[in-house]
Amino acid sequence: VNLKPFNTFGITVYSKYFASFSTVGELKDLLSLLNDRNLLILGGGSNVLFQGDFDGVVLRNEIKGVERIEETKEEVVLKVGAGEAWHSFVLHAIEEGLGGVENLSLIPGSVGASPMQNIGAYGVEIKDVFESLEALEIETGKLRVFSHEDCQFGYRESVFKKALKGKFVITSVSYRLSKFPQLNTSYGAIEEELRLMGVEQPSIKDVSDAVIAIRKSKLPDPKSIGNAGSFFKNPVISKQQFNELRMHHENIPSYAVDENNVKVPAGWLIDQSGWKGKTMGEFGVHKRQALVLVNYENAKGADIFDLSEQIIRDIHSRYGIQLEREVNII
Ligand code: FAD
Ligand code: EPU
Repeated sequence: VNLKPFNTFGITVYSKYFASFSTVGELKDLLSLLNDRNLLILGGGSNVLFQGDFDGVVLRNEIKGVERIEETKEEVVLKVGAGEAWHSFVLHAIEEGLGGVENLSLIPGSVGASPMQNIGAYGVEIKDVFESLEALEIETGKLRVFSHEDCQFGYRESVFKKALKGKFVITSVSYRLSKFPQLNTSYGAIEEELRLMGVEQPSIKDVSDAVIAIRKSKLPDPKSIGNAGSFFKNPVISKQQFNELRMHHENIPSYAVDENNVKVPAGWLIDQSGWKGKTMGEFGVHKRQALVLVNYENAKGADIFDLSEQIIRDIHSRYGIQLEREVNII
């Protein structure tokens, strides 16, 4: 099966087999048929880079549905099928007047992948609204509930990218949302965007609209240019290293992490090193956001991976900072 339509990088690679499931029962049946085969669970394919063909079975998650499972005066818990599109869920929450995920508007992909790397943007991460999730253990076919603590969320991290990598299929995720939203507009250009929109008393819908406008102005739409969003994580470095760097690079930006560490935007490092907008035939570095690697036509996954290696080496030699990939390499 050609996987080009199933990965937003638009890489042409083939898998031996492809199947989709829309209920937990169907997933169980499939797993019992497939027992020892090499499996890859795919949602929207918006955070993967295929380096070559996949010698196994791609299972596409299409479990749908949104259910109100708890309600108090202040809050609502929604249990959402892992195969729902993340942004559709965000719009649904906004329509219901429920706050908490509006800053995460327009992130591509599925609900089921949202805990994988604890998706985040504009000052919010899903760990801030996460209640619990259900996942099927591939080896035993048993459904298990994961609490917030079980997931071990970090910056673009969770237990599902580490110790439990490839062991569970997430089938639903529950989020705790607020009936009396506390807006979070302090991050980045949200306030400026709201001013441009002429909004004085923003609603969650206004915040969502502002985030959408900012994202559209810098991130390439995978429908026209293949990409998987940020290719690298923003590196966390010690304040000491940061202060040394600042002696040579006066304008180096940073975000506070804790007492001893800061986060440096990898996009800035890559941009300053002259990579932004660089094109090597079919692929390159995006012209408005240096953190995003792009496939213009028919690039091979291996070419994009090589480009990322070159960037990692270059940034290390210039700044002594080791960039880490954010995208899942398959
Ligand atoms: P996929 O790419 O299908 O899968 C990603 C990984 O999760 C794979 O390893 C896969 O095996 C695994 N997986 C998927 N579903 C399941 C499941 N149900 N159970 C177990 N494992 C599973 N991310 C952010 O955090 N913030 C952003 O602002 C952001 N902006 C983006 C902008 C663009 C233009 C693009 C293309 C991507 C962006 N991303 C961003 C990355 C991406 O949207 C997220 O990582 C998203 O959660 C991926 O969802 P998906 O369904 O496409 O996952
Ligand atoms: N910058 C540059 N040149 C560039 C790009 C960025 O100088 O080409 C500098 C600027 O100083 C800018 C700063 O980097 O102020 C930060 O850039 P931006 O606001 O675009 O955000 P980011 O740090 O590059 C992160 C996330 C995004 C998320 C945005 C908004 C990571 C790895 N990426 O990007 O997530 O949408 O913040 O919160 O943390 C993703 O994960 O795929 C993703 C797109």
